[in-house]
Parts: sequence; C-alpha cells; structure tokens
Amino acid sequence: MTDPRSGPDDPRREAGREAQAESGAEGPPDRAVPPPVDEEALARAYEAGLAAEKRGAPDEAARFYREALRLDPADRCGVSVRLAAIGRADPPPGAPPAYVETLFDQHAEIFDAALVGALSYRAPMLLRDRLERLAPGPYARMLDLGCGTGLAGEALRDLCARIDGVDLSAGMLELADERGAYDELYMGEAVEFLRAPDEAPEDESQWDLIVATDVLPYMGDVAPLLEAAAAVAAPGAVLALTTETPPPDLAPERGWLVAPNHRYAHRESYLRAALAEAGFSPFHVEDIVVRTNEGRPEPGQLFLARREG
Ligand SMILES: C[S@@+](CC[C@H](N)C(=O)[O-])C[C@H]1O[C@@H](n2cnc3c(N)ncnc32)[C@H](O)[C@@H]1O
Repeated sequence: MTDPRSGPDDPRREAGREAQAESGAEGPPDRAVPPPVDEEALARAYEAGLAAEKRGAPDEAARFYREALRLDPADRCGVSVRLAAIGRADPPPGAPPAYVETLFDQHAEIFDAALVGALSYRAPMLLRDRLERLAPGPYARMLDLGCGTGLAGEALRDLCARIDGVDLSAGMLELADERGAYDELYMGEAVEFLRAPDEAPEDESQWDLIVATDVLPYMGDVAPLLEAAAAVAAPGAVLALTTETPPPDLAPERGWLVAPNHRYAHRESYLRAALAEAGFSPFHVEDIVVRTNEGRPEPGQLFLARREG
C-alpha cells in the first residue's frame, strides 16, 4: 500500500450486504462518527515513515508512524503493524480492520494474478486435496471467513451444498461474487460476523465446514476467532486454517508475532492450545509452502480440526 488517501472515506462498516442495502447512509445510532482525518498530513507522515524505514532509521520511522496513528486512530495505513514489525511497539492483537479493508480494496483487482500467478499461492487447492483424502464431506453448509476473491469457495464448491463467505473488503467481495461460487456474501469483520450470526438467515447459523485460508496472517490472538467459530459450528464440524510460521530467529513470546513481512505468524504449539481451548481437536497438521516471497518459499501450516461434541 502506498497511498492511504485512496482508502475508504468512511471507516464505518456494515455487517452484511443486506444490512448495507437496508441501512441507507446512516451509521448505527450509538456509534459516534470520528472526526475527519487530515489526509495530506497522514500521507506525509506515512510516506516519511516508509522512507526512514527504508534507509535503516527505525527510530525516526517510528516517530512518523506514531504521528500517522495520531492523525488516523483507525489506522488505515497499518502503522501499528509496522511499528511492531520494526520492534518499536507491542503488536496489536490483530491487524486493524480499517487497514485490512484498505489494503485489500486497493489490491483486489491484481490479487489473483499476483498471488496465484506470480507467487504460486495454492492453499485453497491444497485444502481441497486434504479434505478429499481425510474428510470428504459432503458438507451441507460451508462458511469461508476472509473469503477474498473466492478461491476457496471455487476450490470446494462441489464438496458443499451451500457456501457463504464473509470479508472486510468490498473490492474482494465483488470479485468473489463474480466468481459465482457463493450462495451468500457478507461484508464485515470475521469475529463480529461469527458473534452475530443473526446477520445470516436463522437456519445458516450452524456451519459444518468453516474455512479461513491465509486469513490468520492478519490476526495475532486467534482465541476470539476460534471461540466465536466454535459457537456457530455444528457438532463434528470441520475447521480448516492456514498460518504462516515465525522466522526461526524470532522467538514469539505469545505464540504469535508480527513478522518482518508485516504479517502475523503463529507457532504450532500456540495454535494447538488455542484450538483445544475453543473445543476443536486437530486431526491433521501439515507444514506447507503458503506462497513464494521474493522467490523463496514462505513456510506455513495447514490445520484441520473437528468441533468436539
Ligand atoms: C490473503 S487474502 C486470502 C483470501 C482467501 N481466503 C484466499 O485463500 O484466497 C486475506 C483476506 O482476508 C480478509 N480478512 C483479513 N482479516 C479479516 C477479518 N478480521 N475479517 C474479515 N476478513 C478479513 C481480507 O480482506 C482478505 O480478503
């Protein structure tokens, strides 16, 4: 992301497309509209931070990033993640939603070509292969968390009678919609969506396959996500996740960290404990190559777990 000014003007988000259509222009009455952001000052601070970081001056970069955060507390530029990556602040528990939304809206059009084409991203196809071998379904209802442009929906379409998707980025959702693999698409934050399944029709609030491929790199603490997923998963439901693995020279104190690539990475032991705590039993954990990064394989893991009970 280079220009935070091209992000959305209004950080308010709707929980679902239907809600969006019905709600008109008004935001929730109890949520205060934040004061307008000085976009030019924000762009100056952000770009000065990037430049300082590039020339190896992390303390100077951190000053500019803090200024950007002061100007835009919703943090569309993701400077809180950058501050953590350069070791100048504790990592936020997850990437700020306004940042994720801005980042993926800006990159939606090139996402498939860049990730699948240039960077050999193949988590959805890999997941399909492992599900076919280990838990072939068929599944009545799948929920794709952070569905992006719909690669997982397309890969798993014929294993599932119904597929719903949720994502923060309207640009990504538009492409998922065009792909035609989803019965319903919702715009919103994954944990908020899981906690308010009434956004979906009543008979959809229990899913028997819940998928999040390449979404945990935008979340640190996964406990809220897993706890909320457990609450809407049918007994015996399958949960499928992919993670990125922390670089060996960086010891994640909490079991997760913001890596130098600005994405969150999780230790296997942390994920296993968090899954168990939420009531999921892993039945397949595999080291995978998530994508390439400057020609080098980016290591990660695929987790398949079953909802107990
Ligand atoms: C790298 S893309 C992966 C998309 C898709 N799952 C795939 O495998 O192709 C990450 C997606 O997750 C979405 N995302 C990240 N954090 C999210 C959150 N907390 N709630 C909803 N969507 C989120 C982003 O908007 C983006 O579309």
